Amino acid sequence: MSRRVKTLLARLGLVSLLLVSSGCTPLDDFLAGVFGRSMRDQSSFDPYEDPLKAPEGSVPFASGNLPARVGEVNVGQAEGLEDVPPPFTALDVLNEVDVVVSLENPVPATTESLDRGQELFLRFCAPCHGPNGDGSSGYMAAVFPPYPLIADRVVAFSDGYLYGMVRVGRGLMPGYGHRISHFDRWHVVNYLRVLQGVASPPATEGGGE
Ligand code: HEC
Repeated sequence: MSRRVKTLLARLGLVSLLLVSSGCTPLDDFLAGVFGRSMRDQSSFDPYEDPLKAPEGSVPFASGNLPARVGEVNVGQAEGLEDVPPPFTALDVLNEVDVVVSLENPVPATTESLDRGQELFLRFCAPCHGPNGDGSSGYMAAVFPPYPLIADRVVAFSDGYLYGMVRVGRGLMPGYGHRISHFDRWHVVNYLRVLQGVASPPATEGGGE
């Protein structure tokens, strides 16, 4: 190798060492000067950058048993839930333990409650128990022996027991507590009582206008 080549290689090595030890920024600045743009200006997200702005007018929400935090809207859950029912399991429902069976229904069966209950019942319960809860249609009718929710046996369950069924399930029935929040479960119970013919819907005000 001639001396000139060796000198050239040594200089190149020195320049690369300088570039490497000083980071990429000077090189990038240089190239940005030449090409008019830099690789640093990308549409990718910076660390901790909020990736997607929430659409205007949207509100954060919570669901489940706990009251909403400040600034949150809790879907279907009234303000100021003070008595959060204690945790219990599907086995507790099966064994009809007192903490489930004696839960008091805090929600009066108003028109609003029944409307909400109906909406949720058709969404979550009808696929298996049928839209009227009689088990004549829906998944249950096809696959399992029907469990009519209008049977005397279910009429005899306390509101707390039905709330427990919705919240944690029992046996083959999955719980819906993670989808249906505390007060919504009571709306479902209220609606179920109407399907059973135990409660009648409140007369609408205004004489049907
Ligand atoms: C995925 C299908 C499915 C869905 C959805 C479902 N259930 Fe059930 N349900 C069952 C099964 C299966 C049983 C029988 C449970 C058992 O094995 O003890 C049952 C039993 C019940 C019982 C007790 C009946 C009895 O005779 O003891 C009640 C009450 C009940 N369901 C209410 C509801 C309500 C209210 C909803 C909606 C929130 C709902 N279910 C949604 C499948 C379902």
